Amino acid sequence: MTMPLEGRTALITGASRGIGRATAIAMRRAGARVAVAARDHEALAKLVIDLGGPEVAVPIPCDVTAADQVSAAVDAAIETLGALDIVVNNAGGCRFTTAFETMRPSGWQSTIRLNVDSVMHVCQAVSGHLIERGSGSVINLASAVTIRSMKDMTHYVAAKAAVIGFTRSLALEWAAHGIRVNCISPGWTATDMTSVEMRNSERRKEIVAQVPLGRWASPEEMAAPAVFLASDAASYITGHNLVVDGGLTL
Ligand SMILES: NC(=O)c1ccc[n+]([C@@H]2O[C@H](COP(=O)([O-])OP(=O)(O)OC[C@H]3O[C@@H](n4cnc5c(N)ncnc54)[C@H](OP(=O)(O)O)[C@@H]3O)[C@@H](O)[C@H]2O)c1
Repeated sequence: MTMPLEGRTALITGASRGIGRATAIAMRRAGARVAVAARDHEALAKLVIDLGGPEVAVPIPCDVTAADQVSAAVDAAIETLGALDIVVNNAGGCRFTTAFETMRPSGWQSTIRLNVDSVMHVCQAVSGHLIERGSGSVINLASAVTIRSMKDMTHYVAAKAAVIGFTRSLALEWAAHGIRVNCISPGWTATDMTSVEMRNSERRKEIVAQVPLGRWASPEEMAAPAVFLASDAASYITGHNLVVDGGLTL
């Protein structure tokens, strides 16, 4: 059987752990050579070894909120891998929760910078390359909270809703260039980001009770849909928000 991403190359942000790491592993297993970006140099170096070494994986330390670092990271990925076919904008997260009336503008802005500006920086940096090649698959990580919503997370919900709107709009603009742009909206996934909820047994049970499939997702269960969206099996899918939430939003 041929591997779905054989001969392809991918840049994955936020690949040092969680969903990004699982996506890098899944894409490599599917045949892609990968560039893995995040701030944690050591975790990236270890991941490259786990992926099979420098022939097939390249570590690219980078803070996705800094446009100049993103631009250098994209250039390094293209130079090392020869080209980019797949871009996964996965870096993101929610660093705090607070009632809206006590939200500091600085907290709001840092959440938008991490979840929205980062996607914009990466897409701008890679735009010339993808348009010139006339192909590509961009996958942005949004969240099921944009549908079901959640208290004390206005900043994060607004940021991820912006990612979905951005994805649809960019998909429309880039369709003529042969570039597909899609989103994945995860539900509750067991990673560092959700470790506070995971550690609290009452909260953990409360969450499971809300999920029709009756459990948390593993990071691998977000990585497999990313491989699908990157592959030719999804060649007619663009501007889509693939909700992967175990039925949470039903
Ligand atoms: N887990 C869930 O339940 C869930 C649900 C819905 C959506 N999501 C979304 O899915 C994505 C991945 O989440 P996750 O659960 O895997 O989170 P995670 O385990 O906390 O991992 C986040 C990743 O993003 C990287 N990152 C954070 N800030 C960065 C920055 N400024 N520059 C570069 N990289 C940065 C981190 O690496 P470094 O710290 O090394 O930089 C890490 O690799 C996020 O966009 C998140 O919002 C997650």
